[in-house]
Amino acid sequence: MKNVALITGSYGGLGTCFVDIHAGKGGDLILVGRSEEKLKEQAQAVEEKYHVTAQYIAADLSTADAAQKTYDTCKENQWTVDYLINNAGFGGQGDFTRERSMEQDMSMIAVNIETPTRLMKLFLPDMVSRGSGKVLNVSSTAGTMPGPLQAVYYATKAYLCSVSNAIWRELKDTGVTVTALMPGAMQTGFVQAGGLADTKLFSNAVAPNQVALDGYNGMLKGELNVISGLPGLQKPLISLAPMFPKKTMLDFVYNQQVAGSGKKSSKE
Ligand SMILES: NC(=O)c1ccc[n+]([C@@H]2O[C@H](COP(=O)([O-])OP(=O)(O)OC[C@H]3O[C@@H](n4cnc5c(N)ncnc54)[C@H](OP(=O)(O)O)[C@@H]3O)[C@@H](O)[C@H]2O)c1
Repeated sequence: MKNVALITGSYGGLGTCFVDIHAGKGGDLILVGRSEEKLKEQAQAVEEKYHVTAQYIAADLSTADAAQKTYDTCKENQWTVDYLINNAGFGGQGDFTRERSMEQDMSMIAVNIETPTRLMKLFLPDMVSRGSGKVLNVSSTAGTMPGPLQAVYYATKAYLCSVSNAIWRELKDTGVTVTALMPGAMQTGFVQAGGLADTKLFSNAVAPNQVALDGYNGMLKGELNVISGLPGLQKPLISLAPMFPKKTMLDFVYNQQVAGSGKKSSKE
C-alpha cells in the first residue's frame, strides 16, 4: 500500500467523489463505513477501475471504539495512512426540544465530532513523527452560524472547523496539515438521511464532485479552510453573515429549514 487515503463515509455522495479523485491519481485506499457489503462492493469496483489497492474497515462510527478499531486495523496490517479524510457525517431536520430524540442527536455528536477527533488523536502523532501527512475534515458552511431546526448539526460543524484550525496552527513546521472543508448544500444521501428534501435550503443544492475536488486540492496544499459549492445567493450571504443582526440571521436560517419551505408556491 502506498500513497494511502483513509476515507470515512466512503460510499456516500461526497465520499465516493473523494475515492474516485484519489484512486484516479493512482493512490491506494482504506474505505471506512458501516456497511461491510457496500464497502466490499466499492473496494472491488475501485480496484478494477483504477488498478489501485483498496482495503476496507467496517465500523459504525457512532460507537466509541470505532476510531481505535480503525487505527488498530491499520497498524496490524502495516498500512501507513498518508491522508486522513474525515468525511462521514449526517444532519437531521427538527426542533431540538420537541422533535429530535436524545439518541439521534447524541449519535450525531459521536459521528460528526467524537470519532473524527479520536481519529486525529490516533493518526496525527504517527504523521508528525514521519514529518508528513494531511488531514481533511469535512465541516460545512453550517459551521459559520447557529442553525435553528438543525441546532446540533450546525454546532458539530462549528466544532470541526474550530478544532481543525487550531490544530493546523499547532502543527506548523511539522510537515503535517489539517484542512477544514466547508461545503454548501449538496445533492447527496445527506438530504434524505436528514429529512431535508423539502426545505428551501436544499432547493438549489449542487452536485458534490467539484466540492470534493476543491477540498482534496485544498488538503494537498495544506490550506486552512476551503469553502465550496455555494449556489445562488448563499455565497455573498455567507461572507456578509457576520454583519447581519444575529436575531435576523436566526430567523433567516430557521425559515430556510422549515419542513415544506422548499415547495414552490403557485405564484413562483
Ligand atoms: N450534503 C450536504 O448538503 C452537505 C453540506 C455540508 C457538509 N456536508 C458533510 O459532508 C459529509 C459527507 O456527507 P454527504 O453529503 O456525502 O452525505 P451522504 O451521502 O449521506 O454520505 C454520508 C456518509 O457518512 C456515512 N455515515 C453516516 N453515519 C455513519 C455511521 N454511524 N458510521 C459510519 N458511517 C456513517 C454514511 O454511511 P451510511 O449510508 O451507511 O449511513 C455515508 O457513507 C458529511 O460530513 C456532511 O455533514 C454535507
